[in-house]
Amino acid sequence: MADTKFYSLEVKSVEKVTEDAVVVSFDIPARHRDKFNYQHGQYLTLRFKFNDKDERRAYSLCSSPRLDKYLQIGVKRIKGGLVSNHIHSTLKTGTIVEVMPPQGHFTSALDSNQKKDYFLFGAGSGITPLFSILKSIVEEEPKSKVCLYYGNKNEDSIMFKSELEHLETKYKEQLVIKHILSQPKVEMKKGFLGLFNKKIINWRGDIGRIDAWRVRDFINENQSKDGREVEYFMCGPTGMMDAVAEQLRERHVDDKTVHRESFGLDDDTKSKSTKTTDLKSAKVKVHLNGEVVNLDLEKGETILEGLMRLDKDPPFSCMGGACSTCMAKILRGEVAMERCLALDDSEVKNGYILTCTAIPKTVEVEITYAV
Ligand code: FES
Repeated sequence: MADTKFYSLEVKSVEKVTEDAVVVSFDIPARHRDKFNYQHGQYLTLRFKFNDKDERRAYSLCSSPRLDKYLQIGVKRIKGGLVSNHIHSTLKTGTIVEVMPPQGHFTSALDSNQKKDYFLFGAGSGITPLFSILKSIVEEEPKSKVCLYYGNKNEDSIMFKSELEHLETKYKEQLVIKHILSQPKVEMKKGFLGLFNKKIINWRGDIGRIDAWRVRDFINENQSKDGREVEYFMCGPTGMMDAVAEQLRERHVDDKTVHRESFGLDDDTKSKSTKTTDLKSAKVKVHLNGEVVNLDLEKGETILEGLMRLDKDPPFSCMGGACSTCMAKILRGEVAMERCLALDDSEVKNGYILTCTAIPKTVEVEITYAV
């Protein structure tokens, strides 16, 4: 079972990478190093206390376990976001933060003998785990090729811009990076004899958004012709993820080779979600931290909410079905999940559930967190 305790880590540095994004580096003390070993593409959960209330957020690691000395996460400031604004305005070198060890399945096994194509699709801060993945693959699998299609609003919102350019030069035989901007910057220039103003766009790359036909062209242009295996990673807003998924479906791509990472959901979105079972109440037996907890759930209450009501200490992070920190396995009975972005179909088929969105469909349910 994953270690879901929190450990006090010291912030090594906070570096601004765009107007509204920072990279926070953590120094891992020797006594915790084994707990904080990680895979490229995983995330950290940070815990803060505001007015005696716990707030947890999951942030993807942008560092590579093979290349970077410190664990680094990318944090974009969200308008009105309690935690992201706190991180931007108060974290500095030396601040102590409560951090859960790395988790997540947005990764794949690397092998220096492997020769694959990897297609990565990202938009905005969705680049964060992709940056970790990209760096790790080009370094660890010299025969593989990585193709990144990365969307942003304008030139200034491109995270890791200079690092990406540097990697493109360093690994030019292995790495293809294509940018697309939805609103490239416009410059006003005086026209002939200064009589009229002229709008100039200096951006020479794609303009628009990553949609299905662009995904098709990008893959067609860059896929190797030697029949090698291909894997796909995507992280960004729902519209982009749907566009990529649509094109991969059209190509009959095996779902096992497709990795998706969803953003967490804001509080507004969570409160609007609808519960999906009609049961008035249910009994749930939970195996948690070596203890058996018997829950009487009320109508519409999730398993995680029931455990928190009893002051148990269940693992969780996003509370919206988008990470996988709260994952458990069904031993008996059935549940409905109103949102399940973090598990793939085969995991659900094998009985894995996200307890933050799981509501009993049968009057008796038994689950274990020891997965
Ligand atoms: Fe993130 Fe449940 S807490 S999926």
